[in-house]
Amino acid sequence: MNTVSVNNISLAYERLGKGVPLMLVHGFPLDHTIWTETAALLAGKFDLILPDLRGFGQSTTVDAFYTMVDMADDLAALLDHLGLEKTALAGHSMGGYVSLAFAKKYPQRVSGLALVASQTAADTPERKANRYKDAGAVAQKGVGLIAEGMTPKLSADVKTQEFVRPLMERQTPAAVIGALKSMAEREDTLAALLAAPFPLVLIHGDMDVLIPIERAREIKAALPSARLVELKGVGHMPMMEAPARTA
Ligand code: MLT
Repeated sequence: MNTVSVNNISLAYERLGKGVPLMLVHGFPLDHTIWTETAALLAGKFDLILPDLRGFGQSTTVDAFYTMVDMADDLAALLDHLGLEKTALAGHSMGGYVSLAFAKKYPQRVSGLALVASQTAADTPERKANRYKDAGAVAQKGVGLIAEGMTPKLSADVKTQEFVRPLMERQTPAAVIGALKSMAEREDTLAALLAAPFPLVLIHGDMDVLIPIERAREIKAALPSARLVELKGVGHMPMMEAPARTA
């Protein structure tokens, strides 16, 4: 992997393929390797940039509170480093939240946005409280309990579960706690999307139990020009459960 120093962290990223720039942003608490199969299908047409978000995979983090906007700033600094003014973004779940923060702050740098199993809505008060509870539990007991609790919710597909569980277990408590707090404090981004100058694609599995497909249908209802791709029989990991349809 390549690394670049940005905003007091070392950000790791893969780059492959040739064509239109497209950044694939992973979700929580994972890393860029979730995109491997989908990236192989896209590499013939796209200049793919696959970052590990701060704290995850091979990227480092900071011991301080940070926001989705800080994570988006990391991606903007990565683009600067690569000499790219503009890119398309496909963000998975939390990676979608980061992509939305990026699109809100840097709309002129986005050529298109795909939200993969993600949403524009902020946390409900209950979800927010649970994130802080989870962060406290991770500080005491480590990331194993997150991996255990999330694995069946990410996908019913055994092959996908066997990949994501050890991947989640390898992430550090600092990354998991930082991201949980950052997700808890994120804002609703629907209004920013309505004014967006770029095309939007929503890719969502109809079996997603972490972020129900209704969230994507609500965005489509508010923004009829968006393209909604509903994936039958797919859960929260479309890029692993249905790489061809996702690509
Ligand atoms: C993710 O898959 O990135 C997260 O579970 C999303 C969330 O918890 O809101």
